[in-house]
Amino acid sequence: MRPVTDPATDPATDATPVKAPTLPDAQTVTFVKHWTDRLFSFRVTRPASLRFRSGEFVMIGLMGDPDPKTGKQKPLLRAYSIASPSWDEELEFYSIKVPDGPLTSRLQHIEAGDEIILRPKPVGTLVHDALLPGKRIWLFATGTGIAPFASLLRDPQTYEDYDEVILTHTCRQVEELQFGKELIDSIRSDELLAELIGEGFHDKLRYYPTTTREESPKMGRITDLMRKGEVFEDLGVDPINPDNDRAMVCGNLAFNLEIKEMLEGYGLEEGANSKPAQYVVEKAFLD
Ligand code: A2P
Repeated sequence: MRPVTDPATDPATDATPVKAPTLPDAQTVTFVKHWTDRLFSFRVTRPASLRFRSGEFVMIGLMGDPDPKTGKQKPLLRAYSIASPSWDEELEFYSIKVPDGPLTSRLQHIEAGDEIILRPKPVGTLVHDALLPGKRIWLFATGTGIAPFASLLRDPQTYEDYDEVILTHTCRQVEELQFGKELIDSIRSDELLAELIGEGFHDKLRYYPTTTREESPKMGRITDLMRKGEVFEDLGVDPINPDNDRAMVCGNLAFNLEIKEMLEGYGLEEGANSKPAQYVVEKAFLD
C-alpha cells in the first residue's frame, strides 16, 4: 500500500503554512486479525496527542481512487468506534467487510506496516457523560456494534458508576460472536485490568450472546427475547425501569430504531452529551 504523509510532521510543509493541510493524518497498522470472512479487527499506532472518552468514534479511511478527470485523490473516510480502552498505547477497530463497500472492500486488505488515515478528533454519544447516574447499565450490540463497548468494558468508570454491567450481543452466526467472547474472557482473566479497575470488578459483568441464523445456546433477536421477558428471566434481573437502568445501544439501523422504541416504552429517555438522560444510541458502521 502506498504510504501517505502527515502534514503535521512532514518537514516539507513547514515553510508554507498558508494553506490548510490537505494531506491526511497517517497512522501505521500494527496488527490485523480476520475473525470470519465478514469481520476483521486491526490495531494502529496512536497519535501522541489523541485523548478520547471510552465509546467515542473517529473518522478513519484510505485515500480514494484518483479522479479520472483531475487525477486528484480524496480521502475516503468513515466513522469507526474505537474498540480499545483509553489507556492503551494503540488504537483498535473492529470492522465488517462489505465486498462492494467503497471503504471496507479495500480496508479489509490492510496488513501490518501499511498506513491508514485517522482524523484525531474523537466524538460520539456512547459516553458515560451522556447518562444520568443509575444502578445497572445495559450495553446492547448487534454485529460490529460491540466495538465501542469493547472500549467501555475496559474503562474503570463503567464499574465505578454501576453495580451491574450487562452486555448483550446479537449476531447472525456463532463465529461472529467470537470477538465478544474473547473480549469477555480476556477481561475476566486480565490481572493488570483487575489492578487498574479493582479486584473482582468483573463479577459485575454479565454477558448475553445470542444468534439468529445459526443454532447456539441462546437463539433469537435480543428485542424479541426482551419482549418475551426471557432475557430478564435468564439473567435473574428485574425488567428495565427508568429509576435503576441505563442503556447504550449500537447496532444496525433497524435494530437501533426498534430497541429505542422499546426503551422509551420502559420509560427511559434518550440522552446526549449536552443533556444526559437514561439511554444513548449510535449506529454501527456499515459500508
Ligand atoms: P436477523 O438475522 O434476524 O436479521 P446484521 O449482520 O444484518 O447487521 O445483523 C446483526 C444481527 O442483528 C442479526 O442477528 C440480526 O438478526 C439482528 N437484527 C437485525 N435487525 C434487527 C432488529 N430490528 N432488532 C433486533 N435485531 C435485529
